[in-house]
Amino acid sequence: MPKENTGRVRGNWGSRLGVILAVSGSAVGLGNFLRFPVKAASNGGGAFMVPYFIAFLLVGIPLAWIEWTLGRYGGKHSHGSAPGIYHRITGGKSWAKYVGAISIFVPLVISFYYVYIEGWALAFSLFSLTGQLQTAAAAGDMPAFLNGFLGIEKNQYFSGPWTAFTIFIVVFVLNYAVIFRGVKMGIEKLNKVAMPILLGCGIILAVRVLTLGTPDPVNHPEWNVISGLGFMWNPDWSQLLRARVWIEAAGQIFFTLSVGMGAILAYASYLRQRDDVVLSSLTSASTNQFVEVILGGSVGLVAAAIFYGAAQAQTIAQGGAFGLGFVTMPMIFANMGGGTIMGFLWFFLLFVAGITSSVSLLQPAIAFLEDELSLSRHSAVLYLGAAGFCITSFVILTMAYGTLDEMDFWAGTVMPVISATIEVILFAYFLGVRRGFEEMHRGADMKVPGIYKFIIKFITPIYLCVLLVVWGYQEWFSVIMMRGIEDPNQFFFKLLTRILLLVVFGVLILLIVRADRRGRFPAMKGKEL
Ligand code: PHE
Repeated sequence: MPKENTGRVRGNWGSRLGVILAVSGSAVGLGNFLRFPVKAASNGGGAFMVPYFIAFLLVGIPLAWIEWTLGRYGGKHSHGSAPGIYHRITGGKSWAKYVGAISIFVPLVISFYYVYIEGWALAFSLFSLTGQLQTAAAAGDMPAFLNGFLGIEKNQYFSGPWTAFTIFIVVFVLNYAVIFRGVKMGIEKLNKVAMPILLGCGIILAVRVLTLGTPDPVNHPEWNVISGLGFMWNPDWSQLLRARVWIEAAGQIFFTLSVGMGAILAYASYLRQRDDVVLSSLTSASTNQFVEVILGGSVGLVAAAIFYGAAQAQTIAQGGAFGLGFVTMPMIFANMGGGTIMGFLWFFLLFVAGITSSVSLLQPAIAFLEDELSLSRHSAVLYLGAAGFCITSFVILTMAYGTLDEMDFWAGTVMPVISATIEVILFAYFLGVRRGFEEMHRGADMKVPGIYKFIIKFITPIYLCVLLVVWGYQEWFSVIMMRGIEDPNQFFFKLLTRILLLVVFGVLILLIVRADRRGRFPAMKGKEL
């Protein structure tokens, strides 16, 4: 019988608060401040809250409970990533470990571009302090400034993506330095410092926006805080008849809670076996929802509607999350009392929210390398860092051809739904809801309502499958077929990105084969918990 335990001490979180902060830090990210307001405003405003909270209750919360439970269970058997965990809960099915590759792949690929965007936030917070942003905003040049920074065009502000590249290196090193120090000394410490800063910045910004009054009483007396909030939150109930609104709401719930993708599997694997998962996961999820709806929903687009009116704010929302965060917001800060410091706080907030998320995107791959291939943390960080550095450099240099969007399409939209569907099905039908609930309630400080047995068995998987089919049919198909891409360079680079992603996936599969040869996924006699 091959040896199953590597004998390595895996380490634990230092405190309950620490793990709750770390998972909240993973959940609260760029998605809360950029993606959420844009999605809400363009899908019915207040009415969006209906499908959003339904998805939270039927998909988000169940997945959070499942993922924390499976993660802690994996930790017991020194597995911190899906291949090992799926192998065990299926009672040693030979395909399960390969299916688990998706839940390392998704967070890893998101990290390839997420870390870069984090760099934009850090760079823009510095540009706020140096006054460069104000100058560009005053000249009405923000789109050019951002495009120049990203290397999409050469202009008087930037002659290539070199500033962006340099800042990326700084952020990249910071991320890996945190990971290198380990779960307790690195990730937990970071979150203990970062989360209070994040909340503080978010509250200050929200208060500032909500006290803007009527900034231009002469020309636009009707543009004020009330109309701004009205723009964001007045419900357009007719939107609820559109399938798309329901899909967007569920998609946002996944992304924002960081569930269903493998990130929380890794974090929860460092829990102690009697640590509560039920209440802790609920606390982290609620913290995320507070930050998203209350803070995220009060800053970006509300400010845009106060300064530019509802019609223009709608156009901004349609322009997407990056336009809101990196083009519109600097223009608003340039016209706002205390705008310099607020601009700094905004971008610093994004940076902090970003780094607490990106370390959680890297941890599943690190855990896999450490647990299943017995690499030292040093080597794991070195190998992963080298690969990540090359791939992100590729993204930076080919940004103009849509490579970042292509990666985000696969890893940020399509694959998370697939990985979440797999996770819930394995939990409900292979581990079994009854045993799953037993495992979940070990050491629990709260009881999960019995109705959730039914929800997890039927509603969550059906919800996810419908999502997959409808979304796939309505929107993904034409993207997958690369319809409407005229520029041959774009076509080429998007195709190259796909090949690259396939290679990454292939390497993961090979590494799983290798771990298998090392005896990490031994045959099991029946299903044992
Ligand atoms: N939840 C993060 C956000 O809102 C993104 C993320 C997804 C982070 C998955 C980790 C894992 O930005």
